[in-house]
Amino acid sequence: MDNNRRPENMARINTKELADAFIEEQIAAVKAQVGDKKVLLALSGGVDSSVVAALLIKAIGKQLICVHVNHGLMRKDESENVVKIFKDELDANLIYIDATERFLSLLENVSDPESKRKIIGAEFINVFADEARKLEGVSFLAQGTIYPDILESIKAAEGKKAVKSHHNVGGLPADLKFELVEPLKLLFKDEVRVVGEALGLPHAMVYRQPFPGPGLGVRCLGAITRDRLEALREADAILRDEFDKNGLAEKVWQYFVVVPDIKSVGVKDDSRYEGWPAIIRAVNTVDAMTATIEEIPYPVLHKITARITAEVEGVNRVLLDLTPKPCGTIEWE
Ligand code: XMP
Repeated sequence: MDNNRRPENMARINTKELADAFIEEQIAAVKAQVGDKKVLLALSGGVDSSVVAALLIKAIGKQLICVHVNHGLMRKDESENVVKIFKDELDANLIYIDATERFLSLLENVSDPESKRKIIGAEFINVFADEARKLEGVSFLAQGTIYPDILESIKAAEGKKAVKSHHNVGGLPADLKFELVEPLKLLFKDEVRVVGEALGLPHAMVYRQPFPGPGLGVRCLGAITRDRLEALREADAILRDEFDKNGLAEKVWQYFVVVPDIKSVGVKDDSRYEGWPAIIRAVNTVDAMTATIEEIPYPVLHKITARITAEVEGVNRVLLDLTPKPCGTIEWE
């Protein structure tokens, strides 16, 4: 049997009981696969890698080595939360690498979106590989591959072309040879979330909105500058906070802020104030191939606008993107 194909009679994991059974099954399978060897995992804090981490911590404890690379393009407090949950609460063997300087200096003056993606993806592998080489006795690499990734690879193998190069993390360098551990590879996203909750991960982490691998790098449009990136991070945190407070976070599939490299004239404290616009995007979709615009109540928009323009250094306007996909893509780059 092709073990990359989901068996037709496999039950959809949609209850705690089914999730618990899946977890027990996978714990046994992982233990049988890795024995007493060490397993490495790039833990981004996304749903898939977090669920793999929680599952493997349960199966093999400290034999799992998690590496969290902060590329400096994470949302506000995101890396700190990964460390808090996995190191402090789950007692994981976690290596935290702050690679902000490496990434931001490589991205200086780079404005082409695909070049930015390639630089971020390649540097991610460099940082991760450097760390992997320092470790001894690691034989396995765990990955949060899920069934849609497998289906996408099948499509790619059939020669269908993608609009953007979403797969930021390519293969590791040839000197690093690991056997793969992919406990979620037959699951759909909704099932991964049910398993994550059954493993005791926080609801906010398991139901977190999708966040692209290149992170805020593709939302700080054009050549990234540190001040504009910081403005974006702060504005995005305000948007997320207001969506949480107003019950929109559960209703909207993906919502974020984009800050383009243009300035307009405004006024602050009775003086001319040139600043960037913060653009709000909130979309709903089933599969990210097409997307519709979620309506945000005007009072919420007013609150977000007031907070962003008052609290975020360098921003003097707030705009709303009303473009569905197609013809806009979800991200601006
Ligand atoms: P687009 O912009 O293509 O986005 O409509 C569809 C979904 O994919 C996410 N996205 C990415 N995810 N690496 C990722 O891991 C990327 O380079 C990337 N670009 C877009 C986007 O956030 C949306 O959920």
